[in-house]
Amino acid sequence: MPRLRLAPSILTADFARLGDEVASVAPYADWFHLDVMDGHYVDNLTFGPATVEAVRRSCDLPIHVHLMIEDPDAYASRFADAGANRISFHPEVTNDVAGTIEVIKQAGAGAGIAIHPDVEPAAATAHLGDIEVVLMMTVRPGFGGQDFLEFVVPKIAEVASRVQKSGSPADIEVDGGVKLARVAEVVEAGAAIIVAGSAVFDGVDAPAAARRMRERLDELNARTSENG
Ligand code: DX5
Ligand code: ZN
Repeated sequence: MPRLRLAPSILTADFARLGDEVASVAPYADWFHLDVMDGHYVDNLTFGPATVEAVRRSCDLPIHVHLMIEDPDAYASRFADAGANRISFHPEVTNDVAGTIEVIKQAGAGAGIAIHPDVEPAAATAHLGDIEVVLMMTVRPGFGGQDFLEFVVPKIAEVASRVQKSGSPADIEVDGGVKLARVAEVVEAGAAIIVAGSAVFDGVDAPAAARRMRERLDELNARTSENG
């Protein structure tokens, strides 16, 4: 099993103190997960490349930009230039998935495919040779703080098994409603990267919450290395 990694999502962070919020959880994190919404693919608006660039300046961790937008081809290079190491998009927005993957790679980022809970994972598994990450969504995209959708768990396991059989190095990242009590379940299904939005930026004590998530992942890492 690949080492388990934590990717805080800043969606519920305090944007008035974004740099401090990012720096406060960075010691416990492996990635930052940044949710870009355009008001078309989802009924919400978040932020653009300038905010990605601000996060880039606030920490040294890699950044995964999750595009919930209708035209990823038009914006990929702006997010890559702002500091995105990986860029994921939803395949149902394009009729040329391979073309969008290529646009992202040409922009200098690793490509990922995000799977909406109501979309068949084949949209990602058909491209495993060309992507770095499959982002399995366990909430319907649009907002932080929603309830985890249990029915996606078998799909995570199915995608994990396809990734393994294909020999692809793609990471399985799970995104949406993952609280501390859910971590073991999604890891068991095959997740390697855990996105945590409101579980970390909980409005109480983000560094303490990030530390608890980190400890849970480290326990699970230790358990699998003991088992061989
Ligand atoms: C939802 C986003 C998620 C989400 C994570 O559209 O893609 O990244 O904000 O936040 P929580 O963990 O609160 O669901
Ligand atoms: Zn996301």
